[in-house]
Amino acid sequence: MSDCKFYSWIIMPKSKIPQKVVEELNRQFNQELAAAHSYLALSVWCDVRNLKGFGKFFVKQAGEERMHAERILKHLTDRGVTAEVTALPAPKQEFKTLLEIAQQAQAQEHANTLGINAVYEAAVAAKDFPAQVLMHWFINEQVEEEDWSTEMVERVQAATCAGSQGDLDRHIERYLEQEVREVPDEK
Ligand SMILES: [Fe+2]
Ligand SMILES: [Fe+2]
Repeated sequence: MSDCKFYSWIIMPKSKIPQKVVEELNRQFNQELAAAHSYLALSVWCDVRNLKGFGKFFVKQAGEERMHAERILKHLTDRGVTAEVTALPAPKQEFKTLLEIAQQAQAQEHANTLGINAVYEAAVAAKDFPAQVLMHWFINEQVEEEDWSTEMVERVQAATCAGSQGDLDRHIERYLEQEVREVPDEK
């Protein structure tokens, strides 16, 4: 028996996830990376126009999207799947206004929600319980992501003069993180 055959299990771990769920998780893993890439592009657009508050906020979002990708990657790896890191599409970088930037963030968060839902649907259909539990976290996260991106669009729409846009830029992070009401911790 050759050494290669003996060690083949190390190279090709056996997947414990239904194929359709693997495909959806892998697609979503790359979608999260693409979202990080796009947020980086949004931050660049803002930074060169001295919209440093927005720039900083989008850099933070890029980091969060990368962490989302890492979560999916860990799940795939833990279950014996070699994730495929695909080429990413070049993100949109041409925008005329800050409103277009906010709308881009909103559109991509909505697309991400659809992507998460597709993974969850596949996991439910295949009775893959671990992937369903993983997606519960993402489904919750998308409620917040859609909330702040919609609020960002509304706040940019309301900032009609240069002064109010400057104020918005200075405080955007705080505005978007402020909860309307405090939810008490469960004890
Ligand atoms: Fe995400
Ligand atoms: Fe997101």
